[in-house]
Amino acid sequence: MNTKPFFEEKINCRIKNFLNTDIYQMLGGSNILFSEKDLQKIIDICSQKDCYEMIFKRRLNGGPYLLKDAVSYTNWVMEGWRNHSHFAFIVRNNTGEFIGTLDIKSPDLDNAEVGCWADENYRGFMTNAFKELIALAKNAGYKKLYARIKSENSRSYNMVMRSGFIKIEERLRTDGLLEFIYEITLND
Ligand SMILES: CC(C)(COP(=O)(O)OP(=O)(O)OC[C@H]1O[C@@H](n2cnc3c(N)ncnc32)[C@H](O)[C@@H]1OP(=O)(O)O)[C@@H](O)C(=O)NCCC(=O)NCCS
Repeated sequence: MNTKPFFEEKINCRIKNFLNTDIYQMLGGSNILFSEKDLQKIIDICSQKDCYEMIFKRRLNGGPYLLKDAVSYTNWVMEGWRNHSHFAFIVRNNTGEFIGTLDIKSPDLDNAEVGCWADENYRGFMTNAFKELIALAKNAGYKKLYARIKSENSRSYNMVMRSGFIKIEERLRTDGLLEFIYEITLND
């Protein structure tokens, strides 16, 4: 029985945008390379209202998302694939522009946390990308995945529910915010 996740070295999946006819690429493993242009795009996306409010505002103590934060995100992505400690995927549009990311935050096959963020100008692909993430995780040996989502983040919990997750818990965080826990069991 596997005790560690196993992913193909190069991952490249087609992702359809549900709201139009666009096809994107979801990349993982050694298919991920970042350019200077990607860094600027990461800063732009992480500064967008939803993304900043839901994920980065608290982490950055209300400060701006800067180049060093984008560099540290790209280093984290590359490190994960190198060390098999976490597994991030990126999504590019049909001109190769970086438009979002999804990740599995640990190698714990029994229960691993997942997350994502995306460019608000490209709405409509994340449910399909998440379904692909679930299929890849199942193939890699994961048995269960979970997501922690702030109670006010309806776009995010609607998206994970469309992907097959169910709510299992409501938790009050130490900072007083209510968060919901969603999970999916990956049966054989
Ligand atoms: C979470 C996030 C990626 C979701 O993005 P999204 O654009 O709402 O997600 P989707 O692309 O799946 O859905 C967009 C629309 O397409 C529809 N859609 C997409 N795929 C679909 C599918 N397979 N079946 C049915 N409807 C679908 C949805 O119903 C939704 O329409 P609606 O807004 O009218 O309800 C985005 O809100 C985000 O980046 N938020 C900030 C970061 C964040 O909160 N991350 C999560 C932390 S846990």
